[in-house]
Amino acid sequence: MDTLRVALPKGRIGKDSVDLFNKINIGTTVNLKSRKLVFKDEKNNIEFVLLKNADVITYVENGVADIGVVGKDMIIESQKDIYELHNLKFGYCNMCIAGKENKQIYNRDSVLKVATKFTNSAKEYFSEKGQDISIIKLNGSVELAPVLGLTDVIVDIVETGSTLKANGLKILEKMYPINSMIICNKISYRFKYKKIKDIIEKIKIIEERGL
Ligand code: PRP
Repeated sequence: MDTLRVALPKGRIGKDSVDLFNKINIGTTVNLKSRKLVFKDEKNNIEFVLLKNADVITYVENGVADIGVVGKDMIIESQKDIYELHNLKFGYCNMCIAGKENKQIYNRDSVLKVATKFTNSAKEYFSEKGQDISIIKLNGSVELAPVLGLTDVIVDIVETGSTLKANGLKILEKMYPINSMIICNKISYRFKYKKIKDIIEKIKIIEERGL
């Protein structure tokens, strides 16, 4: 039988993702602290690969990985052609507009300057709201942009709110909630259906038991 390849994110939801598979006795050899990026679970014939959050979707869309765990933020941003198989009960946060306290977001007569890693998500959101924006794409430390006057606001994920607080910024508007998901390559879903379904069923059982 074919090996199933699972893409896991190394970032903030990495530990929860590995713990989840371990709870169903899969991937117990995966070690997030090691420099290794590929781990084989011989018993279950599953291979785990550790990737950056955004790259999980790329590997799954291309069929190099069959399934993956990734935040909804990346799914919305990447606009890639994958199946969203199962909502997971971790990685909760919110996509937010943030800036200095009382900063006005909406103004028909001016263009709002927005810094973000999530350019597609921001464009779509503000377009629906009818607010003109200009986007500055940043790759990290996005909170600096309004502090130093590069932009008016940021669009970013907020989990505990401590990064905003430490930089004197506030949530100006919650855009939508985020959680983690199991995603699947569309062809793998057809050809490895049984194995994938079996994993999802096991995950649902431990979730129902509150484990
Ligand atoms: C995210 C996000 C914020 C921070 C929010 O960055 O971009 O900076 O976390 O979390 P908090 O509300 O708990 O403070 P991340 O740590 O994922 O790093 P990155 O900027 O490298 O993506």
